[in-house]
Amino acid sequence: MAGGIAEVVARAGMRAILRARSEASAATAVKQVTSGLARQVDKGKLDAAERDRILANITTATDLGALGACDIIIESVVEDLATKQQLFRDLDAVATPRAILATNTSTLPVVEMAKVVRQPERVCGIHFFNPAQVLPLVEIVRPITASDDTINRSVTFVKAIGKDGVNVLDRAGFIVNALLFPYLNNAIRMLEDGTASMEDIDTAMKGGCNFPMGPFALLDLVGLDTSLSILDTLHASFGDENFAPRPMLRKLVAEGRLGRKTKAGFYVY
Ligand code: 3HC
Repeated sequence: MAGGIAEVVARAGMRAILRARSEASAATAVKQVTSGLARQVDKGKLDAAERDRILANITTATDLGALGACDIIIESVVEDLATKQQLFRDLDAVATPRAILATNTSTLPVVEMAKVVRQPERVCGIHFFNPAQVLPLVEIVRPITASDDTINRSVTFVKAIGKDGVNVLDRAGFIVNALLFPYLNNAIRMLEDGTASMEDIDTAMKGGCNFPMGPFALLDLVGLDTSLSILDTLHASFGDENFAPRPMLRKLVAEGRLGRKTKAGFYVY
C-alpha cells in the first residue's frame, strides 16, 4: 500500500519520501511502483518522460529523521496498535510541528494514535483502498481530538492528489470496511457450509452484482492477515457475530497463506 500511496502523491507532482525499516523493503516498494509504471508505458497510457517525472518525485529513506520537513506523514505499517503507537511517538519526535500525522489504518481507533503524541489535534486518518493507484476513494477519518485545520488540510491534500474524499467519524471500520467485511466473512461461511464452490461464489457476485471481483479474489487482494485483523477489531468493537472471523480464514493465515502477496490464499497464484 505504501508504494501505491507514494505513486499517487508523486503523480500529482508532489515529492514523496517512502520510508521503510530497511533499504531492501524500500527498494521492493519502489520496484513495484517502477514495474506498474512500466506496464502503463507499454500500454501507451503513460509517456516515458512522465514516468521519469513521477519516479524522480519518489525518494526512499530508512531513518525517520528524513521525514522532518514533510507537511504530511501517512503511516501505513502493520495493523497492530502497539506498533502504530510506537511509530507515532517516534514521528512526534522528528516531525515539524505543522505536519499532519495521518494513519492509513483500516479499522483501529485513530484516537489511540492521537493520544500518544504531544499535539493530538494534528492526527487523523487518511485511508486508501487497494490498489491505491486505481481506487478513487479516500476516507478522511476524524477522531474526537482532531482540529478543524487538520481535517481541512487533509481534505485539500486528498483533492490535490486527485482522489474522492469522504469524511467519517472515528468508528471501527469507518464506512467501507464496516459494510464490506460482513459480506466477505459471510462468503467464507457460505464456502464452509458447502453451499457453493469458491469459484461459483466469485462468479455469482461478479455477474449478479456487477462487482469487479468476487469476495475470495478480493480477500486475496486485501491480504488474509489484514482481513483477519480487520474482522477481529470490528468484532471486538460491535460484538456482532457477522464480524467474528470464520475458522477457515484463521486457518489460512496460520498456514501462512496470506493472499496474493504470498502467492497463495484462497486461490494459488
Ligand atoms: N496495483 C496497481 N495497479 C493495478 C493493480 C495493482 N495491484 N491491479 C490492477 N491495476 C491497474 C491495472 O494496471 C489497470 O490500469 P490501466 O487501466 O491504467 O491499464 C487497471 O488497474 C485495471 O486493471 P486490470 O485491467 O488488470 O483488471 P481489472 O479491470 O479487473 O481491475 C482491479 C483490477 C482494479 C483490482 C478491480 O478488479 C477492482 O477494482 N477490484 C475491487 C477492488 C476493491 O474492492 N478494493 C477495495 C478493497 S478494501 C480495502 O482496500 C480497504 C483496506 O482497509 C483493506
